Formats: sequence, structure tokens, C-alpha cells
Amino acid sequence: MAYSEKLIDHYENPRNVGSMDKNELSVGTGLVGAPACGDVMKLQIKVTPEGIIEDAKFKTFGCGSAIASSSLITEWVKGKSLDEAGSIKNSQIAEELALPPVKVHCSILAEDAIKAAISDYKSKNGAADAAE
Ligand code: FES
Ligand code: FES
Repeated sequence: MAYSEKLIDHYENPRNVGSMDKNELSVGTGLVGAPACGDVMKLQIKVTPEGIIEDAKFKTFGCGSAIASSSLITEWVKGKSLDEAGSIKNSQIAEELALPPVKVHCSILAEDAIKAAISDYKSKNGAADAAE
């Protein structure tokens, strides 16, 4: 099957690979796994006091589509509010990367990871959507 150029680019030159200190209050961490294949994705966001995502990093132990999906979503969430970032749909990722049907769950992993990172940040900051 043919992979899209965007997918291959994100896979070969992944953006925002790395880690942040998960103990920092401004950092939210999402760690999710795909039961179907055992792949694991860690995605972290750094949030300003105003509730804007200023940085994002990921580490993905998985297939090329999972790596490309996490690379893309870290680019997309930067500069967004938590609500905006939390409303990104896996279908948007799948469309942008032209994922084949068997690889759609890889983009679901990225959506789940950003949602998990957002809720981690919110629970650490004790705020039920305080900044909204
Ligand atoms: Fe996920 Fe191959 S099934 S890496
Ligand atoms: Fe399972 Fe990509 S995350 S094959």
C-alpha cells in the first residue's frame, strides 16, 4: 500500500520528539496504549497560566503511522487553548496523513493521548476548567 508524502515526512522527520518533567505543574502527561497492537504513546503539553499550550512533546513506541500521528498532533496543538486542542478529532489526523483504514487506530491513539494529557494537566492544577 502507498503511504502519503505527509505521512512519510512526519515519520522520517518527526517533530517534537522528547520528554518534559512530568512533575512540573505546568506540564500535562498522557500515556495511552493501543490494545490492538500493543503500541504505546506518551504525549506531553506545557500550558501557560492563561491556558494556552505553548509546547508539546511526544515519545511513541509503535508503528510509523502512530509516530506520524503524534508528530502531527504536537504541531497542531501548539498555540491552542486546552478546549481547542481537546476537540481535535482522529479523523482530521487520518485525513491529513491519508492513513489507510487499517492504520486509523493509530490516529485514535494520538487523539486519546492529547485528551489524557489535558485531563492530567487539569487534575494537577485542581481546576475544573478554571481558566475557561
Ligand atoms: Fe503497531 Fe505494528 S501493529 S507497530
Ligand atoms: Fe497500532 Fe499503529 S498504533 S499499528
